[in-house]
Amino acid sequence: MTTREFPPGFLWGAAAAAYQIEGAVDVDGRRPSIWDTFVRLPGAIVNGDDADVACDHYHRMPQDVALMRQLNLASYRFSTAWPRICPDGGPVNQAGLDFYRRLVDELLTAGITPWLTLYHWDLPQALEDAGGWTNRDTAYRFADYAVTVYDALGDRVDSWTTHNEPWCSSFMGYTSGGHAPGRQEGVAGIVAAHHLLLGHGLFVDEFRRRGGTQGDGKAVGITLNPTVADPFDPTRAADVDAARRLDGLHNRVFLDPLFRGRYAEDLALDTDGMLFEGRPWQDAVRDGDLELISAPLDFLGVNFYHGDVPAALPYDAEPGELLGSRIEHATRPRQSPYPGGGFVFPRTGRPTTDRDWEIDPDALTRLLIRLRDDYGVPPIYITENGAMADDVVEDGAIHDTARRDYIEQHLHAVLDAMDKGVDVRGYFVWSLMDNFEWSYGYAHRFGIVHVDYDTQVRTPKDSARWYAEMAVRNALCQ
Ligand code: FCB
Repeated sequence: MTTREFPPGFLWGAAAAAYQIEGAVDVDGRRPSIWDTFVRLPGAIVNGDDADVACDHYHRMPQDVALMRQLNLASYRFSTAWPRICPDGGPVNQAGLDFYRRLVDELLTAGITPWLTLYHWDLPQALEDAGGWTNRDTAYRFADYAVTVYDALGDRVDSWTTHNEPWCSSFMGYTSGGHAPGRQEGVAGIVAAHHLLLGHGLFVDEFRRRGGTQGDGKAVGITLNPTVADPFDPTRAADVDAARRLDGLHNRVFLDPLFRGRYAEDLALDTDGMLFEGRPWQDAVRDGDLELISAPLDFLGVNFYHGDVPAALPYDAEPGELLGSRIEHATRPRQSPYPGGGFVFPRTGRPTTDRDWEIDPDALTRLLIRLRDDYGVPPIYITENGAMADDVVEDGAIHDTARRDYIEQHLHAVLDAMDKGVDVRGYFVWSLMDNFEWSYGYAHRFGIVHVDYDTQVRTPKDSARWYAEMAVRNALCQ
């Protein structure tokens, strides 16, 4: 048996997010977020699930931290809930903040490094009522909230992430409407993206002003979910162009302002004539914004599950028309800033997870190399990677071999990139435990720990045992 080692100090963790696990949605002063509203819209969530209880982590946090310790996790990536800490986007609610004080204390006592994300999609509904992320003011409200959290926890938390996957918050929230707040308003997604980035930049500025530097052991970054856009037919010019557009509207719309201080020219050409509230999206970009947004970061978080295979399609193409593959439009086609583009998802004959996400670890290697080569990004942490599986409980055990294999393959992919000189410093599996998987409710399980939603009993799956051993060994065995 051969082994492939990770460098000493490589950070092993698991990730979760406030809304997906906490429950207790009206406890200790928490007020509704856009997800509390969205889950109640007919048809928004398969099975009509809501997250009012979720994993009841709010009440079971000490036991959950004990479980993390059993699993040898060196770090836990969690998010703080804006609607708990600044309900309705207003002044600070100490009772809400206290939960995270207790969580951080519990983690530190257990020897687990807290990895804090400030925004994992739970915008206070009151701020959405005032325009949400299409309203510039939301960026300033975010910075106020973020500074509040930093001032309360900055003495004990070293790693700070502004946003989780702003592509989802902007394009799924304001263009396709598949996520909260469910708006389908074309280039509103880009306006939202700019304001999310502005909020990020405003906080980074405050963080540095407050002395947050690596010299003090403090680090700030952002987590993106960049994709690899492989044209369905690389010999077909229209597919190659669909891949370019997808790369623009999924990757470069964030990477360019963050790491080059500008938006790409083809983004302007592709969206020429598309207006939000009667104005081009570029009107949202004010003097000084890009300087704030492009301030140097200490790390980049990368979430990766699958690449994408864009194809140029007629707007009216129906699922299944292309070579028997299922076609999913990135967005509602007629309001889409991806004109004529769709995805072939998955390609026929390719392996997939039980969620139909194509398994292509090599795409992760290529992505990491591209981030280094094209953008010279700071050290990378894989802040999410994992697999949905239709787990079966047999005599109290869950033999989730497919999930374990998926994680292992992607860890090899990370090592392949590291062998080529890419600086990757850690890996967080998604997810610590099964949870409320957004539009899929509880139907989609991603945890390495099984949750029985009737009893709230947690049971580590085989993947969790494997992961715990691997984390200690700091190496993959082949
Ligand atoms: C990511 C989200 C995370 C989880 C995984 C499966 O896009 O950040 O909350 O839903 O997908």
